[in-house]
Amino acid sequence: MIRTAIIGVGNMGSKYASIIQSGAVPEMKLAAITRVRGAYRDLLLPSIEAGLPVYDNAGALFDAIESGETAADAVIIATPHYVHEESALRAFRNGLHVLCEKPSGVYSRQAREMEEAAAEAEKTAGAVFGIVFNQRTLPVYQRLHELVHSGTYGALKRVNWIVTDWYRPDPYYAASSWHAAWKSDGGGIILNQCPHNLDLLQWICGMPARVQAFCREGHYHDIEVEDDVTAYLEWENGASGTFVTSTGDAPGLNRLEISLEEAMIVCENGKLRIGTLEEELGQKEADYRHTSQDFFRKIRGTWHEETPPAEPAPYERILKDFAAACEGRGTCTAPGNEGRKSLLISNAIYLSSWEKRMVELPAAGSGQELAFEKDFEAWLERKIREGSADSRESGDKEG
Ligand SMILES: NC(=O)c1ccc[n+]([C@@H]2O[C@H](COP(=O)([O-])OP(=O)(O)OC[C@H]3O[C@@H](n4cnc5c(N)ncnc54)[C@H](O)[C@@H]3O)[C@@H](O)[C@H]2O)c1
Repeated sequence: MIRTAIIGVGNMGSKYASIIQSGAVPEMKLAAITRVRGAYRDLLLPSIEAGLPVYDNAGALFDAIESGETAADAVIIATPHYVHEESALRAFRNGLHVLCEKPSGVYSRQAREMEEAAAEAEKTAGAVFGIVFNQRTLPVYQRLHELVHSGTYGALKRVNWIVTDWYRPDPYYAASSWHAAWKSDGGGIILNQCPHNLDLLQWICGMPARVQAFCREGHYHDIEVEDDVTAYLEWENGASGTFVTSTGDAPGLNRLEISLEEAMIVCENGKLRIGTLEEELGQKEADYRHTSQDFFRKIRGTWHEETPPAEPAPYERILKDFAAACEGRGTCTAPGNEGRKSLLISNAIYLSSWEKRMVELPAAGSGQELAFEKDFEAWLERKIREGSADSRESGDKEG
């Protein structure tokens, strides 16, 4: 039985706690939780009344684990992203398995340091590190991954992803004490909603090499962080792409188009449309393009549709995979180290927008990565200072 402590029992932490409490993941058992309030507490009342320890915060929980007052094998981290790293590092120091919410952190250095600590804890204590990229459990994206990675249709040429179905009204931002400010949240739609899409993008298409992006801050809502983003991406093999997202378009779309050398795949509404080259062509598209004398002929596609099944319980799937990894029977849905990649992309999107230039994504572990981390963190500090100054200014006016 994996004795699991949950750090941060709000929207997501309470979800994991109630799945475990329900017995849906029989390999896991609640060992402790941190402070919980209101409706979330009501959900967990059966466990609390049965003696589940509740600590004030992550620090108090780890003190209890280290003193032997509470026994735990694993932690699930579901606090705001700035503090994911400190909990993960302390858990790894104690040889615990860690399942961390996305994004790994706010800046990529946090993800790198988590990865390094995880590697050490894996070596010394067999600790497992997973990250909650629950959209990877969806069969439609698994099939897309398979189609692209099979190599059947050749290399990537172009990706267009318009994902404007993250619509949020103003009260969503106002309801949270930490959302939508550089200081407490660290970003807007790119850091909060899009880690899922950026992870899928790199999982399916590979890491882009560079990005030029335009982030519009407070465009649809009265917030200091971005709620509207357009990014242009390039891959090392010459492929290019766009990624467009907002929390203000309605009705929103979620349409991913992947153009490969010998096929076009469109993913929308849980369905895949796959267009392969007309059979009569009898050759590769590039060969035809370089030689055809038929100047105006367009290559037709032979289209078919696939509707992979839905995943009814993605978070349960994440917990089951994590439990299997902890017991040495399987692997996490997404290994924790994957968190660094989408964070590098999102940090590069911000940096590009703030510096109004194309930004190269650094290779993990390279000297360029350290310089990139420094640049990003210096900018983030500046955004935090400007954001705090703005709120003081508006506070003064109100006062
Ligand atoms: N995978 C998903 O689909 C998904 C969806 C929403 C949010 N998230 C991620 O989950 C994380 C939490 O988001 P949420 O929506 O649950 O936020 P939330 O505000 O509802 O919950 C966060 C909880 O953490 C607690 N907390 C803050 N600092 C703490 C500390 N030091 N020790 C212990 N508890 C602490 C807060 O009191 C709160 O109860 C974020 O990183 C977010 O990006 C993931």
